[in-house]
Amino acid sequence: MDTMRPMKPNSIFLVKVWPASVRVAHWLVAGGFLVLMTTGWILRSGRYLGEAPADFHVLASYPLLAGVALRIWVLVAHPAVGGWRALWPSADRLRAVPEMLKFYLSFGRLDLPRWFAHNPFWAPIYLLWILALAAQAGLGVVLLQGWGEDAVVRAWHAGLAEVLVAVFGFHLVAVVLHELRARRCDVSAMIHGWRVFDLPPLEGTEQTPPKARVVRFEPRADSSRAGGKGRK
Ligand code: HEM
Repeated sequence: MDTMRPMKPNSIFLVKVWPASVRVAHWLVAGGFLVLMTTGWILRSGRYLGEAPADFHVLASYPLLAGVALRIWVLVAHPAVGGWRALWPSADRLRAVPEMLKFYLSFGRLDLPRWFAHNPFWAPIYLLWILALAAQAGLGVVLLQGWGEDAVVRAWHAGLAEVLVAVFGFHLVAVVLHELRARRCDVSAMIHGWRVFDLPPLEGTEQTPPKARVVRFEPRADSSRAGGKGRK
């Protein structure tokens, strides 16, 4: 940092990005998934006998099912951030992918690109992930109901679980790396809906206080970006 010049303030914008439906679905799915992943691993390892892991596995499938059902409804019904179009690999989003890849390949040493709601690299993966979670939940129901060839359904369920756990591992590493590198409070944004946008320093003057300017935007009334009026 140049110590000779007075520090210029950044502009920090707080923008409502995530509608409540996306946030609720996210945490229902995440909570259910973590228990399903743990109990699924215990069941497969065969190390622990007793009914508890199987019972908790079935119990945790309810929040996951509820979250996936809500998310799929939002995918279809939401006009903006929650809708499937926000996850589709559009030309704009694909153009941002090399920048994200460079960031990951530098292990977070390069600057983290900026984005509005979904990370452009992850957006299409999120779409596939949501559909794969729905398929996994469906396989679970098929197993519980005893439909189909048990061994075959079980093998598909176990195989898909490995893919889902791997994606979750990458998701967690990516989210933590984004937080460490850019400090944009993305995880808390998934809780309250507001993301931090930190813009480059403004022209500082003697009168400008040496601290960030914080501006808070309410959701836009025309529903074109943040989910629209009334969509919280
Ligand atoms: C437990 C720790 C977790 C944390 C801290 C976390 C955090 C986040 C954050 C910050 C985002 C926004 C990323 C972006 O800017 O694109 C996000 C999105 C997402 N996360 Fe997670 N996540 C967690 C677990 C999970 C799990 C277990 C799943 C699924 C099994 C999951 C599925 C998703 C999906 C599908 C999105 C996209 C949002 C949407 O459109 O629904 N997350 N997560």
